[in-house]
Amino acid sequence: MAARIIDGRAIAAQLTERISDDVALLKERHGITPGLAVVLVGQDPASQIYVRNKVKKTRELGMASIRHSLPEDASQEELLELINRINCDPKIHGLLVQLPLPGPIDEASVIEAIRPDKDVDGFHISNVGLLSRGKRGVVPCTPLGCLMLLKHELGSLEGCDAMVLGRSNIVGKPLANVLLHENCTVTIAHSRTRNLAEQCRRADILIAAVGRPALVKGSWIKPGATVIDVGINRLTDRNTGRSKIVGDVDFQQVSQIAGAVTPVPGGVGPMTIACLLANTYQACCRIHKLDDMPDASRV
Ligand code: GUN
Repeated sequence: MAARIIDGRAIAAQLTERISDDVALLKERHGITPGLAVVLVGQDPASQIYVRNKVKKTRELGMASIRHSLPEDASQEELLELINRINCDPKIHGLLVQLPLPGPIDEASVIEAIRPDKDVDGFHISNVGLLSRGKRGVVPCTPLGCLMLLKHELGSLEGCDAMVLGRSNIVGKPLANVLLHENCTVTIAHSRTRNLAEQCRRADILIAAVGRPALVKGSWIKPGATVIDVGINRLTDRNTGRSKIVGDVDFQQVSQIAGAVTPVPGGVGPMTIACLLANTYQACCRIHKLDDMPDASRV
């Protein structure tokens, strides 16, 4: 049996269209344009592509987007000063510092310097705390995108056994919390987990976010399970020099066993950007205390 392919591009396009309508309504009703500032330190090629995409998509939706680039050798003080200026800018409602940061800059101090209500990544300790309590904070973009894909595919997730592969602060841990609030029974697996394949075979929902190309094999999958692949791994062919992007899931094998699976590219990636746009619009509504506007991140 071949799995259904969960079309992240199409689902993200629907969400983006909805946010675009919400942004237009916001301008019409309140004369406010949501603004996003994206900060990039250094020249990391992957980060440059991500930042360019984020800025472009934000503008396409009718929101304002400002990119700030600092050199590779920028000091932590310079970065904190920039964050402070953006925190105080009334035209900016969302602030994102692209990770990873180069050199000796302390990532945690940088994230904690962002105003929690402008933290559209949902990485600030206040938002992490709110999510763990199940309260309204900002939900990180990739976990929110995964939740939307799962709900689109399955409807209610109540009672499902969910396996999250990976325990990062950006994806694994917040996603486990999100799924717990949906009443899943959640397991987080990581590099020291024993009997990984056997544990995965119990999962109705399996989410792979470990950054290991094609780690998850067909034999790890419970027949009919829903598989979400968060991995974005660049593989370069030694002979031709050509590179391609692959996920953490062996798509060929897994699509023979699973009920539904996301492709890479075209699965979680587009949802992450769409959720960043939703979080920016939402941050704008919250900062201006606008209770009469639609909730863009409604699932
Ligand atoms: N680097 C990789 N993913 C992300 C993300 O979601 N947000 C930020 N700020 N940096 C990242």
